[in-house]
Amino acid sequence: MNLKEELKNLKLKVSQQIEQAKTLKELDNIRVETLGKKGPITQVLHGMKDLSVIERPAVGAFANKIRDTLAAQIEKKKQILERQALNDALVQETLDVTLPGKKVKRGVRHILSQTQEEIEDIFLSMGYRIVEGYEVESDHYNFERMNLPKGHPARDMQDSFYISEEILLRTHTSPVQARVMEEHDFTKGGLRMISPGRVFRRDTDDATHSHQFHQIEGLVIDKGITMGDLKGTLEFVIKKIFGEERKIRLRPSFFPFTEPSVEVDVSCFKCEGKGCNVCKYTGWIEILGAGMVHPKVLKMSGIDPEVYAGFAFGLGQERIAMLRFGINDIRYFYTNDMRFLGQFARL
Ligand code: PHE
Repeated sequence: MNLKEELKNLKLKVSQQIEQAKTLKELDNIRVETLGKKGPITQVLHGMKDLSVIERPAVGAFANKIRDTLAAQIEKKKQILERQALNDALVQETLDVTLPGKKVKRGVRHILSQTQEEIEDIFLSMGYRIVEGYEVESDHYNFERMNLPKGHPARDMQDSFYISEEILLRTHTSPVQARVMEEHDFTKGGLRMISPGRVFRRDTDDATHSHQFHQIEGLVIDKGITMGDLKGTLEFVIKKIFGEERKIRLRPSFFPFTEPSVEVDVSCFKCEGKGCNVCKYTGWIEILGAGMVHPKVLKMSGIDPEVYAGFAFGLGQERIAMLRFGINDIRYFYTNDMRFLGQFARL
């Protein structure tokens, strides 16, 4: 068979292969195999050296023509396959907008934040200011100004984390009292404030104790403030939190910074005072400490106890939330278990 015949047959064969190629990859393989350096056309062109000088130009031109024809055919087929691939992709990747979406989990405010905000709202409605204190506090404000001088036995109960001799993590929110009292301009009227925040005590953590927890401090100072104001205010607030049917009870107690001092109890909301496990069969639940601001505390803050009087209280946020929602372990507040936190969708 002469070279021309060979080339014709090759063209016929390859043309068919191109026509039948189904993928771009297949087509590219054909291109490399036929038109590449080791391909049959190149081989034929190499073989020309054996031809006579007269034959050579014609066979060369013929081989080149066939190579160009095949290259053009491949290019054409390539475009067809590319368009096909694009169309296939468009069909396959269509979005079905009617499919149901993925559920997005809704977040929930931490129950302590909710408790704090709820109590803040009650006091805001009565014209109280909300003041922020410092979690890192000086011995001076945390103890001295609260009438707990060095060596006072009541300090032991609140032993805390000391950063230095004089600086500690505050053991209660009461130091905010002193900070606000000394700043307040009484020529513009009395003082009414609450201060929510974190406090720290060197406690062993168990179901009802934590080395850090949250309080809300309250302080009212004006001319003519009496224990009646304290009782009326707390009764109003406690009813808002625990229900209008609740009663409150004041029991004598002791705090160095108040005189007289009281523990405030609320009538049991579970058994309505009959006696149950929540109120330990007493009908009453202790919820906060309070009292009339000690004259010494007023004096240390530059306030004349002959002219002004006031009351203060401190409540534990965790305790309030635990009582309201029957939470039996304080550690749940801090371990960030979604099974716990998720139960308190906006109340
Ligand atoms: N600071 C007290 C405590 O942490 C609570 C309290 C505040 C009592 C204000 C009376 C008045 O126990």
